[in-house]
Amino acid sequence: MKVEFYKHSIEQRDIDSVIEVLNSLFLTTGEVVADFEARFSRYLGCRYTVGVTSCTAALHLSLLACGIGPGDEVITTPMTFIASANAVLYAGAKPVFVDVERETGNINAALIEGAVTPRTKAVLPVHLYGQMCDMRSIRKIADKHHLAVIEDSAHAIEAARDGVKPGQLGDAACFSFYATKNITSGEGGAVVTNSEDMAEKLKKLRLHGMSKGASDRYSKRYEHWDMEMLGWKYNMSNIQAALLLNQLERIEDNWQRRESICRTYEDAFESNPHISLPEVLPDSKSARHLFTIQVSPDRRDDVLRQLQERGVGVAVNFRAVHLLTFYRQTFGYKRGMFAVAERIGDSTITLPLYPKLTDEEVRYVTQMVKEVTAEPDRA
Ligand SMILES: Cc1ncc(COP(=O)(O)O)c(C=O)c1O
Repeated sequence: MKVEFYKHSIEQRDIDSVIEVLNSLFLTTGEVVADFEARFSRYLGCRYTVGVTSCTAALHLSLLACGIGPGDEVITTPMTFIASANAVLYAGAKPVFVDVERETGNINAALIEGAVTPRTKAVLPVHLYGQMCDMRSIRKIADKHHLAVIEDSAHAIEAARDGVKPGQLGDAACFSFYATKNITSGEGGAVVTNSEDMAEKLKKLRLHGMSKGASDRYSKRYEHWDMEMLGWKYNMSNIQAALLLNQLERIEDNWQRRESICRTYEDAFESNPHISLPEVLPDSKSARHLFTIQVSPDRRDDVLRQLQERGVGVAVNFRAVHLLTFYRQTFGYKRGMFAVAERIGDSTITLPLYPKLTDEEVRYVTQMVKEVTAEPDRA
């Protein structure tokens, strides 16, 4: 049997919406983007959404909109995809890592204050695998030190914790609609915020700092536009938005299916002495973006290889960012500096998780994981 690591859930009606846009006059940022933005804001219970081309762009622009630049420091986690830390570098600032919680892999809020310096301007928590960080604590620390909070919510559209959703306590929350995300336009992203000022800045920053978008320029009487600040070219197109619109309507059904698959995996692995699992905390709804197991670091790569040989699609989310060559060389990071993140990075394996996964495929994956983790190392 071959179980793909990921299959998207695009349906005919999503394709029809795209065709409708392709048959229309306006392909770039216009009414369809505005419609998606309004619906996404409503789903999250936030006031504004600004559609962009990726979560990386969303993070970059949010940092700029918070006034972060050269000489500033941003506290973040080494247990993430490189985009979270790279965006800080794009803004000209320095990412400062603190270690993560053993149970969840999320940034350890208790360590943040110890990393604050006079240069610190923001905290950038990442809601790992779909479970939110301790946003109430993070907001308190940020307020005490006058820091912005920018949430990397790439994994966490459907998440909630302690009654809070992404974007509700942060100054901005950044989402990804990359090919394997819970809703997808192949590539795409958005920033959600409750601040009108921030939303206005983001709208300009996503399009070269121009005072008017293409739709404003075309649809109304022609008025000259101005360039008010240096912006980027990160605007979401009507084509991307059309693909996303209907997926929002199915988001909870798809979450239910992933939740059920995760419960099956958890039941199958809970008592396995070779496997440990990240915890979903009480009062936390995980968006269930990625399902990961942890095995002994000296067996991890062998288990990965053997699962692949048996037709199970796997990935590693993530090896700790500070140990990647660029970060080691640029900032002098060494093994031992963030021990919990390193341990997770050395032992984690991501299994297939998506609504189209069949019960038979889930059974096959659990069976293969059981067999492979029980075997002694063949290497
Ligand atoms: C935690 C996290 N942050 C940011 C990103 C970047 O998203 P994008 O590919 O939309 O730029 C990803 C992508 O996988 C991610 O996993």
